[in-house]
Amino acid sequence: MLKNKEQERLALEFSQGWSYAPAPESTDHVQLQERYSLFIDGKFVAPSSKKYFPTVNPATEQVIAEVAEAGKKDVDKAVKAARKAYDEVWSKMPASERGKYIFRIARLIQERAREFAVIESMDGGKPIRESRDVDIPLAANHFFYYAGWADKLSYAFPNRRPRPVGVAGQIIPWNFPLLMAAWKLAPALATGNTVVLKPAETTPLTALKLAELIRDSGLPPGVVNIVTGAGATGAALVSHPDVDKIAFTGSTEVGKMIQRAVAGTNKKVTLELGGKAANIIFEDAPLDQAVEGIVNGIYFNQGHVCCAGSRLFVQESVAHTVVRKLKDRLKTLIVGDPLDKNTDVGAINSAGQLKTIRDYIALGKSEGAEFYESPCALPQAGYWCRPTLFTGVSQSHRIAQEEIFGPVLSIQTFRTVSEVIDKANNTPYGLSAGIWTDKGSKIFNLGQQMRAGVVWANTYNKFDPTSPFGGYKESGFGREGGLQGLAPYLQFD
Ligand code: NAI
Ligand code: MG
Repeated sequence: MLKNKEQERLALEFSQGWSYAPAPESTDHVQLQERYSLFIDGKFVAPSSKKYFPTVNPATEQVIAEVAEAGKKDVDKAVKAARKAYDEVWSKMPASERGKYIFRIARLIQERAREFAVIESMDGGKPIRESRDVDIPLAANHFFYYAGWADKLSYAFPNRRPRPVGVAGQIIPWNFPLLMAAWKLAPALATGNTVVLKPAETTPLTALKLAELIRDSGLPPGVVNIVTGAGATGAALVSHPDVDKIAFTGSTEVGKMIQRAVAGTNKKVTLELGGKAANIIFEDAPLDQAVEGIVNGIYFNQGHVCCAGSRLFVQESVAHTVVRKLKDRLKTLIVGDPLDKNTDVGAINSAGQLKTIRDYIALGKSEGAEFYESPCALPQAGYWCRPTLFTGVSQSHRIAQEEIFGPVLSIQTFRTVSEVIDKANNTPYGLSAGIWTDKGSKIFNLGQQMRAGVVWANTYNKFDPTSPFGGYKESGFGREGGLQGLAPYLQFD
């Protein structure tokens, strides 16, 4: 039994609130250069623009490394290298040999998973728990999965004689940097295409580490080229006449620009854009499980998820209970150092994104919704946002219509099934949705009627390389993942 004094001390500590001891992941094993150039034709080469830009750690605001800014000339060089590799090597290689290279990349990512996870958290601000347990293993799994398809395409598309498209230009965002690179590269390579990939300007480091890994894997030069830079670099890739296919993940605004840029050309396009997902809780749902699912859907990863469950619809009879449970849970979320293994909510990716989120929070207040945020303390340096929720939100509020891309949840109530279907579908987006109920019949009914590419039931934000992902309406078109993810990189007779 504990002595009285010890009991007293514990009681005092408990009443004052307690916290975990810091458990930071070590950065000792991480090898980063001060300056990165462009990965073209199997080598790192200086940009002809001679320009470099810094990438910062959003949790400390410190510069981690400098990264080359690829200009038009550099993009052209990368596309030429990809074309040459396509014509001379990759398209001629037996598919089973191509598969072996992709398997090798998958294994190398697994071997270096820890280093990748730490760099992902340093460069992008996401909690190490997410990058270690989700991003990096899933990235490896995508390469494993598509490696298996490389020599089985005729079984995937029987009687259709699938052929590669040629050179793919791929542009990815900052919310899942390595994972998005894997979603793009693995199916493109498995179908026999060569690639020029452009990572986002705030999170280029894991793609550049991947370039090193690809070089070490012995993949023939020019099959994968990685060029860094911001929007202008992306636009140069999109408008390059010798690119056969564009795959883009990012904002709806840029997606529309890309679609305009390729109109009237022969380029194939897939766009994976924004979202404003509805997470729907019925009164018969297991409420504690649902609350945990909501938290996972919008607060983990700082809400930097295109399929984030940013709109919550709660059946009126349980609304009071769910909101109370949610507020209680918000108080316990650990916000802070992304490298700490206990952290739930990391740093906002950039100063620009933080401003966007703050503007939306101010807007929500001025629109008349009721504001609540976690009372947690925030670190001094870096970009941070407390987990936030709005109640009393109505359909016409902009915080219920527009993508915020931060840890901000807008909550509405409903009474009937048809009411919630109408409300959930009443958005320009259609990427994902979540349903929480004890009744299988409700799941099937809503699953059919949600205008969303992915519908989760009694869970949220679960991913697997074998299942396709993609949107309806302004969330874009084309599917990534699964058998369906092969088709955009193929042409058929
Ligand atoms: P963005 O769409 O500008 O950036 C995504 C990628 O596109 C980056 O690699 C960027 O360099 C590139 N890019 C920018 N302009 C381009 C152009 N004209 N041509 C070709 N490529 C171009 O997204 P941003 O500005 O970082 O974020 C703005 C908003 O977009 C966020 O607040 C969020 O709402 C949404 N977003 C959605 C994502 C998703 O996964 N669906 C990912 C990132 C942002
Ligand atoms: Mg960064």
